[in-house]
Amino acid sequence: MTMPFFAVKKSFPKILFVASEAAPFVKAGGLGEVMFSLPRALRELGYDVRMMIPRYASLDQEKYKLRMAYEGLKVPTDAEEEGQPRHLICNVKKFESPSGDHRAPVTAYFLENEEYYEKRANIYGYGDDAVRWALLSRGVLEFLRVNKDWRPDVIVASDWQTGFLVSYLHQNYKDDPKLNSIATVFSIHNLHYQGMFDHRFITEMDFDDGHSLMPSLFNPRLLKINAMRRGIKYADIINTVSSNYSKEIMTADYGELLDDLLRERRSRIYGVLNGIDYKTMNPETDPHLVKNYNVKNLEKRLANKTELQERFNLPVKNDVFVVGVISRLDEQKGFDLLFPVIEPLLKQLGFQLVILGSGDGRYMSFFQKLGESFPEQVASHLIFDEVLPHLILSGADAVLIPSRFEPAGLVQMEAMRYGAVPIVRKTGGLADTVEDYNPRSNSGTGFVFKEFDSLAMATAITRAFENYRHRLTWQGIEKRAMEKDFSWEKSAQKYLDLFFRAVDLRRKELER
Ligand code: GLC
Repeated sequence: MTMPFFAVKKSFPKILFVASEAAPFVKAGGLGEVMFSLPRALRELGYDVRMMIPRYASLDQEKYKLRMAYEGLKVPTDAEEEGQPRHLICNVKKFESPSGDHRAPVTAYFLENEEYYEKRANIYGYGDDAVRWALLSRGVLEFLRVNKDWRPDVIVASDWQTGFLVSYLHQNYKDDPKLNSIATVFSIHNLHYQGMFDHRFITEMDFDDGHSLMPSLFNPRLLKINAMRRGIKYADIINTVSSNYSKEIMTADYGELLDDLLRERRSRIYGVLNGIDYKTMNPETDPHLVKNYNVKNLEKRLANKTELQERFNLPVKNDVFVVGVISRLDEQKGFDLLFPVIEPLLKQLGFQLVILGSGDGRYMSFFQKLGESFPEQVASHLIFDEVLPHLILSGADAVLIPSRFEPAGLVQMEAMRYGAVPIVRKTGGLADTVEDYNPRSNSGTGFVFKEFDSLAMATAITRAFENYRHRLTWQGIEKRAMEKDFSWEKSAQKYLDLFFRAVDLRRKELER
């Protein structure tokens, strides 16, 4: 038996995060955000943490001073047919994190391939995405085989895109002494996406139980591979992004047809709550605000509220209740609940609603039209923006997050940090982080509703509206929300525990 790589370094595991996106390099949503802030938090604890993503066209090479780390990496394609290339040629570029700069991202590697990454303007949305992620997964492993100066003890693979990596490592490299001692943590940020197909409508013939070897990169079968299932099936440890979600996914309601497998693997499943980046998300220092503030001078938020109303072209009124939405606009986020009730609510309560988000056209046109019908009350900005979230968090009185399901949710935590009171559905990480206001005990940090139902949501909005009119009550809620601690420290420590467990399980597996 080969000596496990980590044996001498057991107390200092080296960690590699692999994902399809990572801020500040490229980001589409919460996953990218976590890929930025979690590795940094682990580095703060003294660990050697790096990450690897594709080098997309949009990545600014000059700005990050990328250098060649490996040229001409030959990534096997497993091609089966005559005329198909046996290898795809990639490069690996490296961003070296400037030492001592706590704000800088961790050291990062980028897999370069012209056809699959450089020629594409976006991160997601191509007919051959499965090939792109399989190439990333295999490319990372091949790079680690040939790279001489650094090899991790643990790989953290996130979501279905990198479920392929876990599968390759477990099947194709299980006898490779350079790689088979590397432990894997598979992190589920969203169980709903499992591959390039709709898992609820897959035919028996197309069904992937995860046993077979991965098909070649050119085989159309790749588009039917359930990479989420493979990640869960083969990883040493499975993590989800909140404790509540880790339990929910073992039920038929939230399990997305993988609940059986998840229950089978339950002894390896954990739920470590995401944190938010306290360095950039800080109302006291945030450069995007008109006025900075903290929990002791909340009245200063008013200047930001005025700015928000102006920027969204709404009448500037101090005492009108302003509700904000900052969200990807897709089915998960639950905005369907607004359809039947928003008009009477707006008429009856007279609040203002500002929306920042993009995604599904159905929701975009709904908000667009709502703004046309209620020009004094509703305004939306339906493309991604870096600055506006800060303005909404610091200027809105409340934020609305009515999700159908929510693995963690970051916006409610950011909102609390900025003193915007969250109105949320009791699901996933929202349930773990927001405590419903209780007038009797004068406790709670937001307004929570349980059923996925328009009336339940309308009741929560109405309760928030009523309590907003009691200045002291409202300030109490805002302050309690602001005093909550959602920084990464605690969670980073918990991740370390997972890494040690994963390393341990891997060692036992190898000894068998
Ligand atoms: C996904 C989830 C969201 C979570 C984020 C980061 O976007 O939908 O709930 O906060 O990943 O983990």
